[in-house]
Amino acid sequence: MIENRSIEDLKNRLDIVDVVGSYLELKKNGANFKAICPFHNDSNPSLVISPSKQIYHCFSCGAGGDSIKFVMEYEKLNYPATIEKLANMYNFSLTYTESSEKKEDRKLMENLTLFFRKKLDTQKNAKEYLLQRGIGESTIEKFELGFAPSSDETLNFLRSYGYSISEAKEFGVADISENSDRAYCRFIDRIIYPIRSRNGKFVGFGGRTITNHPAKYINSPQTRYFNKSRLLYGYFFAKESIFKQKKIIITEGYMDTIMLHQAGFTNAVATLGTALTSEHLPLITKMEPEVILAYDGDNAGIAAALKASILLSKHSFKGGVILFGEGMDPADMVKNAQIEKLNRLFSEAQPFIEFAIEQIVKKYNLHEGLEKQKALKEGSLFLQSLPASLQESYRGVLSGALNLPQNLVKVKRDFVRREQREGFIDILELTIIKTILAKPSLIDTLLDTIDTSMFKTHGEEFRLLLDNRFEHPSLRQITLWDDIKIYEEKDLISAMITFLVRYYNEKLLHVKSDKSLDYKEKQFHIRSIQEKIFKLKKGELVAYE
Ligand code: UTP
Ligand code: MN
Repeated sequence: MIENRSIEDLKNRLDIVDVVGSYLELKKNGANFKAICPFHNDSNPSLVISPSKQIYHCFSCGAGGDSIKFVMEYEKLNYPATIEKLANMYNFSLTYTESSEKKEDRKLMENLTLFFRKKLDTQKNAKEYLLQRGIGESTIEKFELGFAPSSDETLNFLRSYGYSISEAKEFGVADISENSDRAYCRFIDRIIYPIRSRNGKFVGFGGRTITNHPAKYINSPQTRYFNKSRLLYGYFFAKESIFKQKKIIITEGYMDTIMLHQAGFTNAVATLGTALTSEHLPLITKMEPEVILAYDGDNAGIAAALKASILLSKHSFKGGVILFGEGMDPADMVKNAQIEKLNRLFSEAQPFIEFAIEQIVKKYNLHEGLEKQKALKEGSLFLQSLPASLQESYRGVLSGALNLPQNLVKVKRDFVRREQREGFIDILELTIIKTILAKPSLIDTLLDTIDTSMFKTHGEEFRLLLDNRFEHPSLRQITLWDDIKIYEEKDLISAMITFLVRYYNEKLLHVKSDKSLDYKEKQFHIRSIQEKIFKLKKGELVAYE
């Protein structure tokens, strides 16, 4: 059994944005995040994730709950299995009540890192290689750079510390050769870049050949400790600086990151030979930094920068792209002491949306009608992936780049306006409900003026509110709806007056055309309703009877 206290500790560490974000692609949406809901056949992002309330909710199918509920439902696991899964994801050691103790972390990676580091000092040509690339001693120290000697030497070291081959295999350090059944170390004659997780645990290695081996770099394989599409190299050393500066520099290589740190750009990180994907975003979203992509100007670099720009603009990240040309990458520039120039380049990054539009358009030959049509389509699709307000602002940029009239660029109308037009939602009623949900004491002001039956569209929700059923999906949905405001008491009262005037005006029409009432009754009702409307228009709330 897992100890309850341990479960509580784990819960306190979980962040809903992080948890859901590690399964789904999230898109920033005001104070919340949005995603395509995995619990029904969703086409628009209907799942809302609220960091402040630590819950998720689907506006379409009503699924919702906290981090644990999400993983349970998504992975279809029971409660204890979910807890173990999450503990594993977040490197958290659970404590168990009985003696079913989990295998103690035997620090294989720490010991191996130390071993590689010591080897660097005895291996003259490896050390020289680093110095000749312009890396200083203190940078070698900081990034714990090392050297992997021959396979046998490393395996002997592991054995001498009592580690089994299967343990080394579990960490992706060693493997068994398929032809000979012999164990071998994955890193041989290579400079070692130890890779730490966001919390500083050693989870993998990058190894660069210094003997012109055809594989320039070899990285740890995916293991349960190491998922390279979720990690950024150097993040552990950069996170404080990213947080302080609200800025992150993302490069393509180990060396770029190391050299940028050496030159004082301590907010630099690198992807691990992969593209930047939505899986990386949980690492940075919380700090809301401006993102600078510092990529190579070759075709691969441009394609990677385009993909990343589309992703980052979709998520409303500020920042932009710098492409390095002519065989000069950030590492080379630091080596050549071009710090001023680097500073200038970083300050002149091309904003993501502009960069993406420019690069999308560049892919096509605009002299041909059909190609131009394709460019328009791809460009419009990109714009439609952006928040509604941005779509409008960039229509002109796209149509300008294509030399087409702006009205050919189709953008999407936002959800609320469409639903409102079709009568599914009533903003006035929702505002009243959301305000009372947020400030329950305000209900006292309204209770004798308002009744469930007065609501045209959201009476059901108002009834749930009166019944204190705050956990109900419909109410959770209203709470998370960014387009609905929470009013101050004064504004709530004016909203109520508008609401009541609307109600009594409709009632008036109703009474006038009611054939079951005789003349006298009608006159009486009409007069009493008119009196109410009169009072309301003077700003006085009237009682419901
Ligand atoms: P580069 O070839 O640009 O390497 O690959 P680099 O960073 O400039 O390396 P140096 O300066 O020659 O030492 C960029 C990144 O792509 C991954 C590595 O993460 C590398 O840092 N890569 C590259 C691999 O994973 N395998 C390779 O064979 C090559
Ligand atoms: Mn390079």
